[in-house]
Amino acid sequence: MSEKLPQPMRPTSRIFGWLMEWLAEPNYQWAVKQLKPISPRRYFEIGFGTGRLAELVARTLKPEAISGVDPSELMLNTASARLKRFKKMTVDLRLGDDTKLGEFAGSFDAIVASHSFQFWSDPEATLRRLRTMIATDGRLVFVVRRHISKSVFEWLPNPITKSGDEIGGMLKALGDAGFHVAVNERLRSGSQGLVCVPA
Ligand SMILES: C[S@@+](CC[C@H](N)C(=O)[O-])C[C@H]1O[C@@H](n2cnc3c(N)ncnc32)[C@H](O)[C@@H]1O
Repeated sequence: MSEKLPQPMRPTSRIFGWLMEWLAEPNYQWAVKQLKPISPRRYFEIGFGTGRLAELVARTLKPEAISGVDPSELMLNTASARLKRFKKMTVDLRLGDDTKLGEFAGSFDAIVASHSFQFWSDPEATLRRLRTMIATDGRLVFVVRRHISKSVFEWLPNPITKSGDEIGGMLKALGDAGFHVAVNERLRSGSQGLVCVPA
């Protein structure tokens, strides 16, 4: 069944993975910049893809632990191989999606979802879960695609994305889940960047 899902939702091609991380490099740099002021000790990523952002976080911010979920076996293997060299860091990457966050114990200073929000089938439930996972002075960072073609709407599972006003819907859902949006800006890549803190 997973072979039938589109590449962005379940990458099975290495070439697609390389292309994705090349295009997203400015987003990764932006996300690291947002996290720098808090020097996170525990970093969590939802839909880590090739692990390029996690690698930048490991190298630049040197957290004690990096955890995350991604439902693509190829992405899990790619990201795990990439993070192997950070021997002093606890790395806990698992095969799974945004519905599996309850399996991780403890709180996280930094939680990031870059281009994965549109694949969450019950975003309100995931945001409520994230509110329980985030440290009191932690940051939840999103990078969200601004342009999604009409044909893609047919298979995207996220009702907020499908509503046609993704950012507006996110802002409301984030508020309802107990987050305050501190930064909401257009990135160099054309995506939208959000930094949220517990309200
Ligand atoms: C477009 S890629 C983005 C990858 C990376 N975060 C980036 O910004 O380059 C989307 C990633 O989210 C993962 N994904 C798909 N559905 C997901 C879900 N429900 N929860 C978490 N990750 C998901 C995919 O396997 C893929 O690796």
